Amino acid sequence: MIPQAIIDKVFDVALIEEVVGEYVTLKRSGANYKGLCPFHDDKSPSMSVSPSKGIFKCFSCQQGGNVFQFIMEHEGLSYPLAIKHLADKYNILIEEEDINVDELAAESRIKDGVYSCLEFAKNHFYERLNESQDGKVIYKPYLTERGINQQTIDKFSIGLSGTSRTHLLDEGLKNGYTVQQLYDAGLVKKIDEDQGVLEGNLRDTFIERIVFPIYSVSGKVLGFGGRIIKKDTKAPKYLNSPETVVYEKRKQLYGLSISKNEIRKVDQVFLVEGYMDVVSLNQSGVENVVAASGTAFTEEQARLIKRFTHNITMLFDGDVAGVNASIKHVRTLLSADLNVRIALFPADEDPDSFIQKKGTAEFQKYVSEKAQNFVQLIAEVTLGENKHDPIKKAEAARKIAENIAVLPDPLKRAAFINETATFLEIPERILIDEVNKFKLDNRKQKERDTRREERQSEQQGISDGLVPDFDYSPDFSEGFTPDALEKDAKNYQEMDLLVSLILYADREFDEEQNIAEYMFKELEESEIWPVSEEYAQIFKDAYEYFQEHKVLNELYFIRNLATSKLAAEVVSPKYKLSHGWEENFEKFVKTDEDNYKHKVVENLNYLKLKHIDILMLENQESLKSAETDEDILIYQHVHTNLQEMRKKITDKIGTVILR
Ligand code: UTP
Ligand code: MN
Repeated sequence: MIPQAIIDKVFDVALIEEVVGEYVTLKRSGANYKGLCPFHDDKSPSMSVSPSKGIFKCFSCQQGGNVFQFIMEHEGLSYPLAIKHLADKYNILIEEEDINVDELAAESRIKDGVYSCLEFAKNHFYERLNESQDGKVIYKPYLTERGINQQTIDKFSIGLSGTSRTHLLDEGLKNGYTVQQLYDAGLVKKIDEDQGVLEGNLRDTFIERIVFPIYSVSGKVLGFGGRIIKKDTKAPKYLNSPETVVYEKRKQLYGLSISKNEIRKVDQVFLVEGYMDVVSLNQSGVENVVAASGTAFTEEQARLIKRFTHNITMLFDGDVAGVNASIKHVRTLLSADLNVRIALFPADEDPDSFIQKKGTAEFQKYVSEKAQNFVQLIAEVTLGENKHDPIKKAEAARKIAENIAVLPDPLKRAAFINETATFLEIPERILIDEVNKFKLDNRKQKERDTRREERQSEQQGISDGLVPDFDYSPDFSEGFTPDALEKDAKNYQEMDLLVSLILYADREFDEEQNIAEYMFKELEESEIWPVSEEYAQIFKDAYEYFQEHKVLNELYFIRNLATSKLAAEVVSPKYKLSHGWEENFEKFVKTDEDNYKHKVVENLNYLKLKHIDILMLENQESLKSAETDEDILIYQHVHTNLQEMRKKITDKIGTVILR
């Protein structure tokens, strides 16, 4: 572990404007700097750098943090490596015993080796497709037959794997790569799982397949998707690289590195199912397209898309599998607050076959006519011909409500509820109840998930060094929901309290104490430390720091790895307000800046409620399993007491809390 003193020293010397300025041209703008954001395809300067606070923040793609985070993101380094990187640059000595240089070097060496191996494989496969006998006689003609031209082959670096079991293994070794590197890159597999990574126990992952390189957003090869063209085989049609140290499938989208500029430009992305759809649409001039390789579509992928556009149109096969897949994806996309439309293709067609047959204009026309929102899609699929069947209508309403419930934006929820009510001729009130029911279910589910995750990380002992992934803005689209459990799932209350501490720690609470002192005293005396491990740790660390140094302010939170992203978010200069920022964050700043004391008290009260709710739940469980009348009486008594405490607090907050 690198000592905090050294981290602080690097932090003080490595000025944010200098470090960022090496990668991006910065222009002064008042007390801050502006520049094109390097983390997304930025057309006008969206990134702000604040020298006084030591943070950067992009108002478009939401990337932000301190110097270390900038280097971590930009260079793809771990936290200690980013510190080391800057320490070296500014000639700050890190003693050998302070940092295990070998270990760090090993980490980056392994990744470098894997990247280089994959790049080699890509080039080798590409050459084979274009120059080998098999390539020229069998595989290239197959692609030509499917309408794929040379320009497209070049654009995507489509290639051909070996045809023998150890072709790439042999070629890789001949070119200086080790068996371990080829194995780590996912290019070769073990024959016998129980045996080691030894030459005799390895064979190629891709044999007799056309291979599509899968790239990271910045264009590094991460792996391959391989299509077999033989018909008389039991092998799967497509085979994908396994997960490796560089390829985390849940975080990647096929085609994004190639399509990202176009996606930004037209502010819209098409999500398709397959490699061939991406390739084929590109060739026909539709370049804003990506595919989620495999079936699942993850939250991470939705967030990745959000860096480039908020508008997504899913293009799926019109068969049952396609419809089901698209409905499953919809919810992930909606919860990420993306604007989703879905266009289903006729049975037996996919975007590739359609555009090859009908051409680009016809394709565009079809998509814009067919694209519908999730309300229309679910209604159509569920009702079919039975437009007025009450049972079908109820079923459709329920499915739609389930999806509305995940929308983070209450205005959008209201709008879709309204649309559904009109469309299905169902009273709005009933739909609202239904949506609320699903919201409650989701919340409970999330709580269970959070608790399970917490338990797991406790068991594995990996909670230290964990960087919470703050998803801050959705909270304020909700306003301050007066429901104590509402925010519990994502620990929003605890995040809120932390935001107050970051913003107001050194302001006065009363004549005797500042906010930090008051808050810590409350947490300690009322025993209401945050419930989640993650936040409890953050508050305890800050408390310890405060006790030792007697001062605490935003700089502490900016420096601290666990809080720097959130700190950058909330203390950033609001030089340009993005959509979510303006709507959500402004509200917070305007109403709460003047009212910070009230806000702190309110935050603490919500936290108290949360603790009481947990006690009540536990008590109810005890009550259920109580065996003697005496026990029952005790638990009932506890229940009444807790209820009274709860009421006192809710009266203070001044809102009715539904339970
Ligand atoms: P499809 O079967 O629809 O194939 O699978 P496709 O993309 O239309 O391909 P062509 O036109 O027959 O060549 C869609 C996607 O599902 C994944 C792949 O990512 C594929 O592109 N898939 C499919 C697999 O991973 N394995 C398979 O065996 C089949
Ligand atoms: Mn196809």
